[in-house]
Amino acid sequence: MSTLSLPTPSDLRITPRDRRFGRDAPTPRLWHGRRVEATAIYNALSATFPVGEAYFVESVRKFRDGAPANLAEEIKSFTTQEVVHSREHDAFNQRAAAAGYDLSQLEAQAEARLALTRSRPPIASLAATMALEHFTAILAHQLLADPRHLAGADQETADLWRWHACEEIEHKGVAYDTWLHATRDWTRWKRWKVKAKLMLIVTRNFLIDRTQGALELMRQDGVTGLRAWTMLLAYLWIRPGMFRKIAGAWMRYFLPGFHPWNEDDRHLLAAYDASAAQAPQPKRKVRRSA
Ligand SMILES: [Fe+2]
Ligand SMILES: [Fe+2]
Repeated sequence: MSTLSLPTPSDLRITPRDRRFGRDAPTPRLWHGRRVEATAIYNALSATFPVGEAYFVESVRKFRDGAPANLAEEIKSFTTQEVVHSREHDAFNQRAAAAGYDLSQLEAQAEARLALTRSRPPIASLAATMALEHFTAILAHQLLADPRHLAGADQETADLWRWHACEEIEHKGVAYDTWLHATRDWTRWKRWKVKAKLMLIVTRNFLIDRTQGALELMRQDGVTGLRAWTMLLAYLWIRPGMFRKIAGAWMRYFLPGFHPWNEDDRHLLAAYDASAAQAPQPKRKVRRSA
């Protein structure tokens, strides 16, 4: 089988790290520094991960048959990582539920969003996945690059988010490489048009849905109305301002010649792995997905 020439670093090895978090003690309800808005946005993201990541895997794997050997291998490792992420976020979501949050509305909303795209051609699902994987990768980069995002958080939960962020960076090129292969016969213009359109749709939905989800969880903590909006928007856009900080990386997606690995941020992975090696939990070997 042939190989595919891609900007993805040739020595990149996507290595699933099978870790478990938060099984030994309950997670505090306001685990993020006792802050309602910080806890709410991370919980809102986590609520959508199991259903979202299953969708990513399903979308990418449809294009695995006939893929060059190096890409097929990337897809396999990507699948393994996403499946373990879902397991851990599912466990985290259960702990959030045990702490008193009702996530059912958020989960149903994510399901409904994705159900709409299932009636579209598989290439549209792949383009949506590629856009969301870019989102995830730039959020992950910020999370690992700037410790202020998780400052004050419960240690075990912060570890869960850092671990997930690390693997999202590591596999950030997989959906994109799959797309480059699947659309190899398209014109540059058609590729750009579909890619840009899906990114705009996905961004609109992401911002609306996650904001609504976080506001719902804040309501469950008794914070509503203008106060809730102000707290949440200030947290997301001003300080620490995650959404503002990813804006530049988000825009680069539209540039000609964009590829997720045009920014080589593997130093963040090395730093994560070095710090995780100090942690008491042993690494376990992961059974790789077929
Ligand atoms: Fe993931
Ligand atoms: Fe991912």
